[in-house]
Amino acid sequence: MGWLSTWSYQLILCIQLLFLHSLTHSKQCSHDQASALIHFKQLFTYSNDSTYDWCRAINPPDQKLKNWKEDTDCCSWGGVTCDMDTGHVTGLNLTCEGLNGTIPSNTTLFLLPYLQVLRLSGNPHVIGAFPEFNSSNPLEVLDVSFTGFSGPLPNSIGNLKSMTELNLRRCNFIGSIPASLGNLTKLTDLTISSNNFNSCIPPSLSNLQSVSTLDLMDNHFVGTIPEIFVNLTQLSSLDLSFNQLSGPIPSSLSGLSNLYYLDLSSNNLSGNLETYLFAKLTNLEQLDLTSNNFSGNLEPYIFPNLTKLSWLALANNSLSLSSTTKVNSSFEAPCNLRELYLSHNKIQGKIPKWMGNLGKDNSISLDLSHNFLTGGIEQLPWKNLEDLDLSAVMACDGAVASSNSRRGQAGVQ
Ligand SMILES: *[C@@H]1O[C@H](CO)[C@@H](O)[C@H](O)[C@H]1NC(C)=O
Ligand SMILES: *[C@@H]1O[C@H](CO)[C@@H](O)[C@H](O)[C@H]1NC(C)=O
Ligand SMILES: *[C@@H]1O[C@H](CO)[C@@H](O)[C@H](O)[C@H]1NC(C)=O
Ligand SMILES: *[C@@H]1O[C@H](CO)[C@@H](O)[C@H](O)[C@H]1NC(C)=O
Ligand SMILES: *[C@@H]1O[C@H](CO)[C@@H](O)[C@H](O)[C@H]1NC(C)=O
Ligand SMILES: *[C@@H]1O[C@H](CO)[C@@H](O)[C@H](O)[C@H]1NC(C)=O
Ligand SMILES: *[C@@H]1O[C@H](CO)[C@@H](O)[C@H](O)[C@H]1NC(C)=O
Ligand SMILES: *[C@@H]1O[C@H](CO)[C@@H](O)[C@H](O)[C@H]1NC(C)=O
Ligand SMILES: *[C@@H]1O[C@H](CO)[C@@H](O)[C@H](O)[C@H]1NC(C)=O
Ligand SMILES: *[C@@H]1O[C@H](CO)[C@@H](O)[C@H](O)[C@H]1NC(C)=O
Ligand SMILES: *[C@@H]1O[C@H](CO)[C@@H](O)[C@H](O)[C@H]1NC(C)=O
Ligand SMILES: *[C@@H]1O[C@H](CO)[C@@H](O)[C@H](O)[C@H]1NC(C)=O
Repeated sequence: MGWLSTWSYQLILCIQLLFLHSLTHSKQCSHDQASALIHFKQLFTYSNDSTYDWCRAINPPDQKLKNWKEDTDCCSWGGVTCDMDTGHVTGLNLTCEGLNGTIPSNTTLFLLPYLQVLRLSGNPHVIGAFPEFNSSNPLEVLDVSFTGFSGPLPNSIGNLKSMTELNLRRCNFIGSIPASLGNLTKLTDLTISSNNFNSCIPPSLSNLQSVSTLDLMDNHFVGTIPEIFVNLTQLSSLDLSFNQLSGPIPSSLSGLSNLYYLDLSSNNLSGNLETYLFAKLTNLEQLDLTSNNFSGNLEPYIFPNLTKLSWLALANNSLSLSSTTKVNSSFEAPCNLRELYLSHNKIQGKIPKWMGNLGKDNSISLDLSHNFLTGGIEQLPWKNLEDLDLSAVMACDGAVASSNSRRGQAGVQ
């Protein structure tokens, strides 16, 4: 017995030692990968200008590249992540580093054979263009937002089949969105806002069935919004604002039951909003249709069942409000509304009583300026008005005309 327990004790000790050894002896990075990183380092100097002070406030630059030295293990370098088992470089995070330099299009950087995550965000003096990508490229995250990257997107971007997050916000990209982008079916986050893309929105985006954030704002996209939403069931945030899109809101958008943020403002969209397009978007919290060409005589339950809606902006369209008194209780009106923008529309006469059901449980901030209202402030069907702007209404009644930008409780009804 004694012998056996000594023996098993030694066996356990031996296993523990083996285990510890495997923990501490992780592989070092290969010479090829280290020299690709050194080559990359040599492209840059550090700039100390203050363009991205906000970025530095979040991530003070610690000049990571200064400690990238040949003949040391690159897996220990700042900003570099390796696979512990293989020693392959799998991630590079140089966010907000204050780098200044040009990345040539034949760079080996994007082409490190095992690189899955590349973050260069917040380096406005890093300039460059995308290289061609082949189909063995394992990139999953590519974030070059707030950099000086420019030029068109190569068609070969569609080869990055493992990509889950692509962020090109506020760079200088131009041209069209290649249809091949629709091949990136694992994408969950596609952010290409604030560039100079000027094509149509490619219908192939309908294949991005995993996408939850789609941000195309502030470009020059033209044409209609294609019917791409049928299979985008994961979409929770959609921003197409500040483009030149025209035509109606596609009906497939009405099936997006996970959507909480929808911004189509500042386009040239048109069509009648009387339909129940928004009825099933029951998770919607913010809806912005400002500065388009929507028309319609809004009925009481145009936004039925949107109980989470807190922010509704319909300003600068051609909308009017139905004066119907036929209101039934089969729908739940947006009861949590806090801000309602209806200025610069074609609202005439009195504010209909049913409007009071929008935001009935809250104090509400309301802008009805630049319309054609008549009737006094006592006509307003809300209990608690926080911020009220009735300026520049075309008033027949002195009471409204003199109540411009009144604050506090209006004490209506
Ligand atoms: C970036 O580096 C170049 C020289 O390589 C220099 O002329 C330029 O002023 C630098 N820019 C900034 C913002 O530091
Ligand atoms: C940047 O560095 C230069 C030289 O080191 C210095 O003269 C300049 O004041 C610095 N600028 C800022 C914004 O820190
Ligand atoms: C990238 O690096 C920055 C600065 O060191 C850090 O704040 C940020 O959390 C990192 N991002 C990720 C996803 O690791
Ligand atoms: C990239 O091209 C330049 C000249 O165009 C050349 O000097 C450099 O060696 C090339 N780099 C790589 C990594 O191929
Ligand atoms: C494809 O790109 C990877 C880098 O992502 C590179 O290692 C590989 O050699 C390339 N394959 C071909 C066939 O060009
Ligand atoms: C990638 O997308 C293009 C354009 O949508 C398509 O023609 C091509 O067949 C796709 N390639 C693959 C490998 O899926
Ligand atoms: C949606 O997905 C289904 C099943 O994958 C497919 O048959 C259909 O063509 C897709 N619809 C669109 C508009 O992409
Ligand atoms: C807006 O769209 C209408 C068609 O719906 C078109 O006639 C008009 O030219 C467009 N305006 C702008 C500024 O693009
Ligand atoms: C609103 O919700 C009620 C109860 O959940 C449901 O019966 C009704 O069909 C919904 N209305 C619309 C227009 O979806
Ligand atoms: C209304 O929208 C048009 C474009 O649709 C824009 O040019 C105009 O400046 C907007 N007016 C206001 C007051 O926002
Ligand atoms: C708004 O749409 C109408 C047609 O419904 C069109 O006649 C008008 O030109 C459009 N306005 C703008 C500013 O595009
Ligand atoms: C309630 O109003 C809606 C829309 O006007 C109508 O479709 C529905 O039949 C009405 N329900 C009842 C019970 O009156």
